[in-house]
Amino acid sequence: MVLNDNRKIIPAADAATLAKTAAECLVGRIAANSGRIAICLTGGSSPKRLYELLATDFYKNQIPWDRVHWFIGDERFVPATDSRNNMRMARQAFLNRCAPLVNIHPMATNAANPDEAALRYEAELKSFYGADNLDCARPLFDVVLMGVGPDGHIASLFPAYPAIEETQRWVVGVPKAHVEPLVPRVSLTLPALGSCHEMLFEVSGVDKCAILTRVLAGEDLPANRAHSIGDTTWLIDAAALPENFRAR
Ligand code: 6PG
Repeated sequence: MVLNDNRKIIPAADAATLAKTAAECLVGRIAANSGRIAICLTGGSSPKRLYELLATDFYKNQIPWDRVHWFIGDERFVPATDSRNNMRMARQAFLNRCAPLVNIHPMATNAANPDEAALRYEAELKSFYGADNLDCARPLFDVVLMGVGPDGHIASLFPAYPAIEETQRWVVGVPKAHVEPLVPRVSLTLPALGSCHEMLFEVSGVDKCAILTRVLAGEDLPANRAHSIGDTTWLIDAAALPENFRAR
């Protein structure tokens, strides 16, 4: 089904089917680009099943690993070895077994503070992109993966926090988190996250039904502000999909 703002919702029977659909979408976007590919990963628990699928032979053999670069949309400002570190989760789930080290782009959580880490990652993204300003005719990423927090946050852009209003910076420090883990964060901003061919949301589990009801009712939440300049797709499993969307 397609919402009136062109967002596409693809229901999935369960979490396993959702992850498989996400893998098909991702591999399809990668296959569509014969040049250098950039994927922006997300943290949290929702993408873990997808990441593990990408390391299986069926998907691993379809990905041109030497041409794919892996970035992260937000990070908890904790050491790279910390179990709460998003890129650590992605490395353990698939990157360490599949991707060349030089193609993995973590945020520098060993920087003095989140703002400095943000400045360094913004510089790295601009160097990779080859320009200081985003051009809507040339997206920064092929795919941006997303989850949705219980408060409607995306990446580390929390409701009513200043970072959600940022329109110039590509990456910002977020000194205080609104939900667990209550550690400072570093997050890409809406303009940088939106600079993609496809923004792919994975939302799974009955505990997401309440926030999805608010999102799909159009409440002004970060999850409703996040859009791609290309396609914005919501993969939602049956447990998370609000009642009034199940019958459609
Ligand atoms: C993070 C994520 C965050 C996540 C949501 C959903 O650093 O925590 O990037 O934005 O996507 O909080 O998390 P779950 O997938 O664990 O529900």
